[in-house]
Amino acid sequence: MVEIRPSILGVEPKKLRESLDLLGNRIKEVHVDVMDGVFVKNNTLTEFHPRRIEWIKKDLNIHLMVQKPEDYFNKYWRAKKITFHLEVEGIKEKVKLVKQKKGLAINPETSIEKAYRYLEDFDEFLIMSVHPGQGGQKFIDSTIEKIKKLRGETEKTISVDGGVNKENAKKIVEAGADALVVGTALFEGNILQNFEEIEKNVGS
Ligand code: DX5
Ligand code: ZN
Repeated sequence: MVEIRPSILGVEPKKLRESLDLLGNRIKEVHVDVMDGVFVKNNTLTEFHPRRIEWIKKDLNIHLMVQKPEDYFNKYWRAKKITFHLEVEGIKEKVKLVKQKKGLAINPETSIEKAYRYLEDFDEFLIMSVHPGQGGQKFIDSTIEKIKKLRGETEKTISVDGGVNKENAKKIVEAGADALVVGTALFEGNILQNFEEIEKNVGS
């Protein structure tokens, strides 16, 4: 069973509640992109301040695209999962400070082999299929190879984030992904129809 996880970056704040309500029990986890304007150009610290998202009654996965993730672990204490990047310094020490479930994100230009030394430290892996920092980008095809390689190394959850849509979802899942993070391709147009089409195309 493949899990589709909505990424709420890019959903108009006014429409967020009704959009998530529409998806209802079809979704378990909501993906929240927290950006500090340093690790990536954009800044969502106000928009996705912990208090601004506490009403969301789903498991929250906080995807930290920030220079100092350790400053945010406790602020997002309500979240089920904290995901931070392999590209920051001192992963082994930092991950010990996470009390929530732990996710490791891997940028497109980072070789997947670099993740192998952290397989035991994290609960799941988030392979970035676009350059982090904004929604609506095109899926980078070399991600498929990275998913296959990582699948050969671990049975833990592999999720894929960026440019996922109903056309490419199947090949991503066939490569070995367990979860798809979807923003634009889910929230643009008819949300329910988009969700069901992705679900149908991956055969889950
Ligand atoms: C990119 C973010 C993604 C993004 C996904 O930096 O991590 O979560 O919002 O959005 P789409 O599906 O539009 O690429
Ligand atoms: Zn993300």
